[in-house]
Amino acid sequence: MNVGLPKEVKDNEFRVGLVPAGVKALTTAGHKVLVEQKAGEGSGTTDDEFIEAGAEIVKTADEVWSRANMVVKVKEPIAQEYRFLREDLILFTYLHLAPARELTKAMLDSGVIGVAYETITNDQGHLPLLTPMSEVAGRMSIQIGAFYLEQINGGRGVLLGGVPGVAPGRVTIIGGGVVGTNAAKMAVGMGAAVTIIDRDLERLRYLDDIFGSRIKTLASNPYTIADSVAKSDLVVGAVLVPGAAAPKLVTRGMLKAMPRGSVIVDVAVDQGGCIETTKPTTHSQPTYYVENVLHYGVTNMPGAVPRTSTFALTNATLPFALQLAKYGAAEGFKRNPHLKRGANTYRGRVVYEAIATDQGLTYHPIDSLL
Ligand SMILES: NC(=O)c1ccc[n+]([C@@H]2O[C@H](COP(=O)([O-])OP(=O)(O)OC[C@H]3O[C@@H](n4cnc5c(N)ncnc54)[C@H](O)[C@@H]3O)[C@@H](O)[C@H]2O)c1
Repeated sequence: MNVGLPKEVKDNEFRVGLVPAGVKALTTAGHKVLVEQKAGEGSGTTDDEFIEAGAEIVKTADEVWSRANMVVKVKEPIAQEYRFLREDLILFTYLHLAPARELTKAMLDSGVIGVAYETITNDQGHLPLLTPMSEVAGRMSIQIGAFYLEQINGGRGVLLGGVPGVAPGRVTIIGGGVVGTNAAKMAVGMGAAVTIIDRDLERLRYLDDIFGSRIKTLASNPYTIADSVAKSDLVVGAVLVPGAAAPKLVTRGMLKAMPRGSVIVDVAVDQGGCIETTKPTTHSQPTYYVENVLHYGVTNMPGAVPRTSTFALTNATLPFALQLAKYGAAEGFKRNPHLKRGANTYRGRVVYEAIATDQGLTYHPIDSLL
């Protein structure tokens, strides 16, 4: 199969769909990999490194897309890429189609086989291709919080780890899933006093087991949240209710009790945020104040560390890319039910039920089309 790797064109997107190790794995398996020149530049991989791994560098996106049987990307196609979609092409990337009517229409009109990272599952019923980005964002949340707590960066001048004779900074993490656990690892490592709040008691038991006495766990309710937030230098928002907007767990009123110059990093901002006063921000203008509390609400935090993020993402996507390249879409779906869950559009039909429901389109189970 010809596998195409175009350079990402979405604003401020520096990641890329494959790293040299992935190219090597694909070429060793007998596939041809066409890499658009400078596709890896933003994440620190040179054309020469791709060539060494067996890729052919091609000059234009047009050539990558037109010669490829499968295109591997990071972000969904944007309008200028719609013309590249066609029926005999597999597109393997993040798609997030449910709210994206225009893109869904372009994919259906073209007949492209759209396989979405975000709907692929594993044996535990989790979404393993979303996990790496939550790990990155969770770990970043503490280093970002520590940065903004410095007085010169607008915070209250607290060192999270404290020093001998001086109490450490206090961190409250709301939501103890992937983001929350990774945030806790970093905060504990820095020596902060860490509280994790979750509504799932089993999850709290697990966190208590792995962190022991180095963290405090609290069951989620308005009382524990208000009390813990009021005593915090840094609050990390990390809740997720799958398929729904994040609940507003920290109210504007609660902020009034927080120390002046304390910091909120609301990682859940991409689901609307779990802090009432959260609004989406960008890497170029990441912060704002409400009630003297510094808020950070960047919706694509992993974009700030494209090198780590690219490697983390491709570690998770490569086994599926190899399977698609080996068997093609139809046979790949038949062999691997988790890969099949990634099927979103197939030859002009919506084959993922939630997307069809959200957009009022007809749902065609993928099994009926294979
Ligand atoms: N901003 C970014 O760049 C970025 C990057 C990655 C992930 N995210 C977002 O971070 C959020 C968390 O992702 P995740 O992978 O950790 O999800 P997850 O499902 O692993 O964890 C979510 C946790 O929230 C808990 N929760 C749900 N309702 C709660 C409540 N009322 N009170 C307390 N806890 C509650 C759940 O029990 C669960 O443990 C998601 O919205 C995700 O999209 C954002």
